[in-house]
Amino acid sequence: MSRCSDYQLLSFVLLLLITIHPSSQSRVREENGVKSAVFLSPKFVLEPGSVSNKFYYDIDFPKGHIALKSFDAEVVDEAGNSVPLHETYLHHWVVVRYYHRQGVDVAKYHGNLGFHKSNFIIKRNSGICEGGLSQYFGLGSETRKTMSYVPDPYGIEVGNPVEVPPGYEERWLLNVHAIDTRGAEDRLGCTECRCDLYNVTKDEYDRDIEPDYIGGLRCCYDETRCRVKDGFQGSRRSLYLKYTVKYIDWDASILPVKIYILDVTDTWKRPGKSTATVARHHCLIEYLVESCSASVANADCSHTKKITVTFPSGGDIIYGVAHQHTGGTGMALHGEDGRVICSSLPIYGEGMEPGNEAGYIVGMSSCYPRPGSIKISEGETVTLLSNYSNAQRHTGVMGLFYLLVAEPSPKPNSILHSTDGTGEIIILHNAVGALAVFGIALIVGAVVIYRRRNQREEGYESILM
Ligand SMILES: *[C@@H]1O[C@H](CO)[C@@H](O)[C@H](O)[C@H]1NC(C)=O
Ligand SMILES: *[C@@H]1O[C@H](CO)[C@@H](O)[C@H](O)[C@H]1NC(C)=O
Repeated sequence: MSRCSDYQLLSFVLLLLITIHPSSQSRVREENGVKSAVFLSPKFVLEPGSVSNKFYYDIDFPKGHIALKSFDAEVVDEAGNSVPLHETYLHHWVVVRYYHRQGVDVAKYHGNLGFHKSNFIIKRNSGICEGGLSQYFGLGSETRKTMSYVPDPYGIEVGNPVEVPPGYEERWLLNVHAIDTRGAEDRLGCTECRCDLYNVTKDEYDRDIEPDYIGGLRCCYDETRCRVKDGFQGSRRSLYLKYTVKYIDWDASILPVKIYILDVTDTWKRPGKSTATVARHHCLIEYLVESCSASVANADCSHTKKITVTFPSGGDIIYGVAHQHTGGTGMALHGEDGRVICSSLPIYGEGMEPGNEAGYIVGMSSCYPRPGSIKISEGETVTLLSNYSNAQRHTGVMGLFYLLVAEPSPKPNSILHSTDGTGEIIILHNAVGALAVFGIALIVGAVVIYRRRNQREEGYESILM
């Protein structure tokens, strides 16, 4: 064999290896001190109608004591091309920070939602739900057009060795829930996890699903299948969550922000004076929006769900964004005096291409108040409101609100905080045009966890969102 053909053979083999096994970490770039690293999740395989809801432990993640500046993700195929939502519906991806006991081996992939607590400690965000919604980052179909950048001089501090309990190391977990809706008989129904379309009467843990549970995550767990049109043929294919993490090395000039996630299904009630019990933030994560009945004169057919909770600790709002599913028309968070802390509106796609799929929420507008202009005070009563169109029924919808809050620093920093009191909010992404489209749609996704499992398996800590 000539040198030339050896070389060709080698190139061919290399090419094959690259094609078959895309390297998980493609590259780290640096621009103005901000590093940007692109990774691929482990691969998941889908065929028409199938669902993948897997948990990947110890995923690739930037190392060291850093400030996270953004986390963006999307589904790509083996060739690295973006996959549209009408083919692979991204119900949610969630990224959880945890401490792993050194010397204990765990497979990188578990279908299981829990780990023995002593080997595995979830480093939760700052609140406010108990059990689920512990993630640092997570989005659904809106992932391609939702800004996640944390403005300067703020950052999400991670990887600080002094925070890690002795004998443990910090790691990251990724949960990806995706539904292949190619050839689906009812695309929206599949994305809304309607139990009849999945032909499911028992959930993942073999518990009966009550007849009044029409749809939601209990019916579209890992390896379930949504009904596909008779005779539809579609290939099995390998997909990845491609995620891009931007970060900077930690230094004293960075102001840390805390992550809070509010959920409109939180069952918390203000404790009565007579009761000594502590109110719990039991977050149900999903809810049902019934269609507006024809008999009721409700011309605009809009459904509003509202809760009031006290905010645990105060500070400046640095960033806010809501998460809703198809049919969503916006969420708002109000302070005790009625002021708008942040309102976030869905952006619906209008075409076919990835990032602009008609009928899907492809982005959510986000709030970047001028630092210091919008504050929440400790213990303030806030009202969270989630609007949906109920021109038709929507099952398994969500209404989450993700906030980054900078606590007042002990020494006021006059450079950073303008004393502007106008409460100006910059809404990025104009969603006005997009709102016209709601009514069609598909669900969007986010995160989930079943507290019941949590209760069932003492000693395990549940992960999900
Ligand atoms: C639905 O499930 C039942 C029992 O689990 C099975 O007998 C039936 O064939 C399934 N129907 C379809 C359309 O898959
Ligand atoms: C939600 O709906 C209510 C009632 O129709 C309306 O007053 C409010 O402005 C809406 N908020 C958002 C954020 O869409």
